[in-house]
Amino acid sequence: TADALVVFMPSGKRGRFPVGTPVLSAARQLGVDLDSVCGGRGICSRCQITPGAGSFPKHGITVAEDALSEWNAVEERYRSKRGLKDGRRLGCQAQIQGDVVIDVPPESQVHRQVVRKRAETRQITMNPAVKLFYVDVREPDMHDPSGDLQRLRDALRDQWELPEVQIDLPILQKLQPALRKGDWKVTCAIHLGTNALWPRIIEVWPGFHDKPIFGLAVDLGSTTIAAHLCDLQSGDVVASSGIMNPQIRFGEDLMSRVSYSMMNANGAAEMTAAVREGMNTLFAQIVEEVGATTDQIVDAVFVCNPVMHHLFLGIDPFELGQAPFALATSSAVNLTAAELDLGLHPSARVYLLPCIAGHVGADAAAVALSEAPDKSEDLMLVVDVGTNAEILLGNRERVLACSSPTGPAFEGAQISAGQRAAPGAIERVEIDPATKEPRFQVIGCDLWSDDPGFAKATERSGITGICGSGIIEAIAEMRLAGLVDASGLIGSAVQTGTPRCFADGRTHSYMLHDGSATGGPVIAVTNPDIRAIQMAKAALYSGARLLMDKLGVDKVDRVVLAGAFGAHISPRHAMVLGMIPDAPLDRVTSAGNAAGTGARIALLNTAARELIEQTVRAIDKIETAIEPRFQEHFVNASAIPNAVEPFPVLNS
Ligand code: FES
Repeated sequence: TADALVVFMPSGKRGRFPVGTPVLSAARQLGVDLDSVCGGRGICSRCQITPGAGSFPKHGITVAEDALSEWNAVEERYRSKRGLKDGRRLGCQAQIQGDVVIDVPPESQVHRQVVRKRAETRQITMNPAVKLFYVDVREPDMHDPSGDLQRLRDALRDQWELPEVQIDLPILQKLQPALRKGDWKVTCAIHLGTNALWPRIIEVWPGFHDKPIFGLAVDLGSTTIAAHLCDLQSGDVVASSGIMNPQIRFGEDLMSRVSYSMMNANGAAEMTAAVREGMNTLFAQIVEEVGATTDQIVDAVFVCNPVMHHLFLGIDPFELGQAPFALATSSAVNLTAAELDLGLHPSARVYLLPCIAGHVGADAAAVALSEAPDKSEDLMLVVDVGTNAEILLGNRERVLACSSPTGPAFEGAQISAGQRAAPGAIERVEIDPATKEPRFQVIGCDLWSDDPGFAKATERSGITGICGSGIIEAIAEMRLAGLVDASGLIGSAVQTGTPRCFADGRTHSYMLHDGSATGGPVIAVTNPDIRAIQMAKAALYSGARLLMDKLGVDKVDRVVLAGAFGAHISPRHAMVLGMIPDAPLDRVTSAGNAAGTGARIALLNTAARELIEQTVRAIDKIETAIEPRFQEHFVNASAIPNAVEPFPVLNS
């Protein structure tokens, strides 16, 4: 038979094939990424392709109209029942008849790229742990006695090249009825995994299974638990939802939860039960949003700090409360949903990213996966700011990590008029250096306080307090306007020339907004507020500086601020305060919820799991508590911006 030249786009892979070869077989032989769940039976439509038309001088091909075979009965049936977009063909049915250029659209690629974030172009390559496989199983035969599972295994090996698959007992229990109901055709959900326990059949359906399967990416924080439900075939996030962590009733911050477990015989177990129960409520709620059920969730990835990690797994966090802060395990953890009492598909797998160190958890590992300092040419400083700051510094040669106890000031706690970031909170502040008069914006309103219409626009929320990013801007602006000295002391009305600086006990405060006449709060920046922020920012800076010492550098090329708080602080104000080391302002960026993004990457791409496990093993862990240099940096860093460090970019 004659040969035809076939070029697949976008890969550009090409080869000659005998006339009559199905497009899907040609793609397989060339290693072209073309999807198939039904194994070429014209049922799943995952193999759709578009043949080119006309001449392709670059490939030396002119595609004739009959370059692919006529529509056969299977393809016709699919088109009439389910419809096919114009120009599309089923790659498993259409056969090559002449030279042809074939386009594989993104939806037909197994390893397609999904856009990670709206504002970004970076993408995740699809390579989920669980995939669906449709197979035709040989019927049992008296002359050739073999079990149904053995024949299913043979079918998976012959039709899908899957080595010896394992099976969970509950699935084995339903295998026989499924095979008979499906007339010896079944769809298996198989966890492909990476070690000897895999691949493993985690669900079997009679016939061709058409419903989506889902995975969950969960960011288990000490305050909130956020979950993203992802379609494991398309990679899309189909729903996102969050709840407060029910453990809050045992203690606001991590250390108070660790002490609750120390003081109460059953404390750790109570907190474990509370967080799992909370998650189950969240999971039920998130599937309801898309009209699905929790047993459609077959895979889940969790990221969390070490204390949350231990409590989630039912491990007493006692050792994390005292030196040398030993983790029960720093490796990634693979479990079943049933082992964790999670209401997902009973055979769903749960993956926890590895922890970096006793204070640097799987959440920081997820940030490392998302921001990839280990792949960077530039020297990158990545800071995830919370009550603890997790700090990563490095480039492709070496990455260091530490955590620094910043405390809750950046979240508005310990601040006299402080509050969480919510409507009504002041989040942006400017102070005129000449008049010393402030103007500000509150969350939920685009207008500035001196814009006409501001009062009307904020009538509903009111002006209720100041959040973390607001207090940072306020103090930085006060410093720039000469209202605060480098040591953090607010001047008197006489010294500063404005009555807004008023005596407040033994120090002075600066009046930002006096709402008392209309029954609202007085929002002033006090000297204790500045102290609290100085402590927090000094801790953050010293952690970063310590890592710079260890690496022997005195400047960084890029700064990435991660976390919800990091997304809201203005780089310039952070630098005026000396929170972060000096760097070109346009090289200070926000990564949003990088830990959540890292969880999603690990969910959709199993190769990323192996990658982050290796990366974490290679990260140098620095324990700030035992480093004398940390204390030294801390003392100098409490000044604004710093007593000893120069900030050349900032001052230029
Ligand atoms: Fe399933 Fe073509 S491979 S329809």
